[in-house]
Amino acid sequence: MSRVAYVNGRYVPHKAAQVSVEDRGFQFADGIYEVVAIDRGHFVDEIPHLDRWDRSLGALRLPPAMPRAPMRQIMAEMLRRNRVREGILYMQLTRGAARRDAPFPRQAHPTLVMTCRPQTLPKPGQVEAGVSVLSVPEIRWRRCDVKSVALLPNVLAKQKAREHGAHEAWFTREEDGVVTEGGSTNAFIVSADGTLITHPATNAILGGITRDRVISLARAAGMQVEERPFTLDEAKSAREAFMTSTTTGVFPIVQIDDASVANGKPGSLTLDLNARYGVFSATGMVRE
Ligand code: PDD
Repeated sequence: MSRVAYVNGRYVPHKAAQVSVEDRGFQFADGIYEVVAIDRGHFVDEIPHLDRWDRSLGALRLPPAMPRAPMRQIMAEMLRRNRVREGILYMQLTRGAARRDAPFPRQAHPTLVMTCRPQTLPKPGQVEAGVSVLSVPEIRWRRCDVKSVALLPNVLAKQKAREHGAHEAWFTREEDGVVTEGGSTNAFIVSADGTLITHPATNAILGGITRDRVISLARAAGMQVEERPFTLDEAKSAREAFMTSTTTGVFPIVQIDDASVANGKPGSLTLDLNARYGVFSATGMVRE
């Protein structure tokens, strides 16, 4: 089945989809994006993603391309045309095409693009094995809460992680050793007494939709959750560690740099939350 993309009012074959060379997303990273998971043919947490989309637009003073209702119609149409049951929808809005000049153009129409692709569940054993992360210096700007397409620090961090055989990078502040978040995931640890700890949703991290969902699921299951900064040293001696995101669900971390997390196997609370969350999970269990 051929993939279909949406570009400024038109549904086009994915391979033929194009935007202008003068687009400010291309020239200045002047744009925002969202990634929404598709689970059994439905969007996961569509409204929270659209709420964050609106917050990102506001932060960058980007004009919305259209009101929410027609946006949602296009999203649904993308799902229908691409016939994706398990996968992701990518949506991006930029300040549009204009002669290259940094201040906002007087006349530009936002560019709205959506793409959709299948994503298969983790392979059997992947969640049960867990992954490793590599700490990298936190070099990003002070508005990490905005889901901007300016992702160069994330690209470099994740490439470095890959070159070291790690699955994800953990941004770590040099001044105080605090782990803010991953290159494209939020970071959690579990302390010796079973408390979940994750960086508070300040402008130092992207407040993940999966993060919020997992915190609610954990609290509903009677687990303790503390939203507070933790250091790399604290993480290395934690009982469990995991990451969350739209594309990974809840994924166990079993190694941080050269240190094994506990016995080097995914922790029980992590696996419990992986199953409770249920999207891109080990078992593909139904979400609560
Ligand atoms: N990344 N932190 C960063 C820096 C991210 O880029 C992401 C998401 C997250 C997790 O957010 P959420 O749970 O809402 O997906 C945290 C997306 C998936 C990406 O860039 O592909």
